[in-house]
Amino acid sequence: MNGSPPELEQEKERLLKASERRFEKVVGLSFALSFLATIGLGVVYWQGGQAQLEGALLFVALGGLGFGIVSWGKCLVPQGPYVQDREELKSPESEREAFVESFERGADLIQRRSFLAKLLGASVAAFGVITLFPFIRSLGPQPKKMLYVTNWKKGSLLVKVDGTKVHSSDLEVGGVLTVFPQGHAGGAISQTILIRPSFEDIVTKPGRETWGPQGYLAYSKVCTHAGCPVGLYQELTQQLLCPCHQSLFDVMTGATPVFGPAPRPLPQLPLEIDSNGFLRAQAGYDEPIGPGFWERA
Ligand code: FES
Repeated sequence: MNGSPPELEQEKERLLKASERRFEKVVGLSFALSFLATIGLGVVYWQGGQAQLEGALLFVALGGLGFGIVSWGKCLVPQGPYVQDREELKSPESEREAFVESFERGADLIQRRSFLAKLLGASVAAFGVITLFPFIRSLGPQPKKMLYVTNWKKGSLLVKVDGTKVHSSDLEVGGVLTVFPQGHAGGAISQTILIRPSFEDIVTKPGRETWGPQGYLAYSKVCTHAGCPVGLYQELTQQLLCPCHQSLFDVMTGATPVFGPAPRPLPQLPLEIDSNGFLRAQAGYDEPIGPGFWERA
């Protein structure tokens, strides 16, 4: 104890409390600012983003948090150092009273600052949630059933990429053409390779007796390995080649893979020729097209 008069001690105490309250306001303001900037950051990002504004808001959000935490630690937490004499095992009465007073004051401070703690928690939680947005958004739209269905259906006319219909006289033996269902020319999921290995009907597998009229066969062009377009037809070996990893598919046996990493055949589109000689699909594909992992989804 320094022996100061009680009035002086009271004045010092009053000034100390006033200073603490000022710092509490500053810290609270920092956290509130950080919270609002984080919410603003989320809104700007959600509405399409604006790099400079996002940068400024991120600066305020992180700066507010950092400034608040540092100020709290430096100005509102008792700084010490605290020294206790080893020799004195029993504290004098005056020290015990001072301790009780200090303890009660500490409890009061803890209660008052629980608001600051909540504000800090809200700022950190909001920042955590808002910074998740880019990760969630970068996943893109859900594919839903898009991976399982194409635009081919019963009666779909086969058309070329320019939309013109495919006639049964269009291809010679050995000819090959990329086709789409009418109304969806150029569609990536429905792209199909039409091949004519013969003028005679072709049966590629049991149960597909009517699928290859007049030597026309149609297979999904989306490789079952990693989805590259299978576009190279080798007439001599009657095989389709995927240029990405060199998978080979035997067109006469239902596009069964005979070489390379493709794990399953290319799905076959059942064909028919209508009364005007145009090629149509008897039905859509009877299995998912493309890479095998789609089947496991
Ligand atoms: S994508 Fe066709 S072999 Fe890999």
